[in-house]
Amino acid sequence: MMSSTAPTSREAARVRSRQLEAELHRDPGRFRVLTGDRPTGPLHVGHLFGTLANRVRLQDLGVEVMVLIADYQTITDRESPATLPADVLGIVADYLAVGVDPGRATIFAHSQVEQLNQLMLPFLSLVSVAEVARNPTVKDEFASIGREAMSALMFSYPVHQAADILFCHANLVPVGADQLPHIELTRTIARRFNDRYSPERPYFPEPEGLLSQAPLILGTDGAKMSKSRGNAIALAASEDETARLIRRAKTDPEGQITYEPDRRPEVANLVLLAALCLQRSPEDIAAEVGSGGAASLKRLLTDALNERLRPLRQRRREFADDPAYLRGVLAAGTNRAREIAAATLGDVRELMHNAY
Ligand code: TRP
Repeated sequence: MMSSTAPTSREAARVRSRQLEAELHRDPGRFRVLTGDRPTGPLHVGHLFGTLANRVRLQDLGVEVMVLIADYQTITDRESPATLPADVLGIVADYLAVGVDPGRATIFAHSQVEQLNQLMLPFLSLVSVAEVARNPTVKDEFASIGREAMSALMFSYPVHQAADILFCHANLVPVGADQLPHIELTRTIARRFNDRYSPERPYFPEPEGLLSQAPLILGTDGAKMSKSRGNAIALAASEDETARLIRRAKTDPEGQITYEPDRRPEVANLVLLAALCLQRSPEDIAAEVGSGGAASLKRLLTDALNERLRPLRQRRREFADDPAYLRGVLAAGTNRAREIAAATLGDVRELMHNAY
């Protein structure tokens, strides 16, 4: 998926992300972050080390964090939404278990915030069909779902994503490289809205993507970690299930464990995961296991991961046992998001001469 993003813009985003990190430390109050996930199932350890830990870090730096559950985006590519209620509450439990603090962060699902969705309509008027059709990430996603026809919602969801980001005037969006085309489109929409309706005083910020510094964790088969591939270790998985998944993980026939991500991606991934859990370097872990081989690496990783996740899983179980609390967190987040969205929509109506 990431290969479609132009390497130059990816490199530029990486350089800019390093500058932004410095600014985040200097002046966290200047930023409002919006991030989100599609509720396609329970979050997994790839999410934990890739994005979740980063959100908690930003929250703890003093940045205002909005966390969006992108439920409307799941209807772009799947058949039945019947599991959504359980998936959405499960994700809220995951967020709270990793340390997202509902007292400081706002957790909400975009289908519940009608004023946010209404922004998509004027935003659609600001982009051309050709611009939307060019989006490489949408093309990749469409290819991967193996359907004959693309729904108009799938075609236009990046414009909806712009509404997710701009409704709350977020100026920073932590993302993977595959999301950079969506951020670029969001900036275009913000700029055109400002030029057309508020030329004296820019109304929307042009948000920037913050690329994660975290290394990418692969699934237990060496491919991208995803629930649908059955190669993901969910945060909610039991210790036995974790052990079973790691036992089945793909390795290679070499007896000696080394850390060589390019030459031995599957083994390197297991080493890296253990290193992240133990907060040691991957080289160090590989050297310790050495001639112990894959079996010994898997034992070490199983213990390290289960230990690292134990307190988190304990908290998650407590939250999951209290769906009324989870609904309350979501309701409070929805209310706050609605207030923000209503104010923005009011301003937008004024600026667009729609206030009668
Ligand atoms: N498109 C994102 C994904 O597939 C989810 C998402 C929806 C999102 N709206 C967003 C991410 C706004 C960041 C900001 O993962």
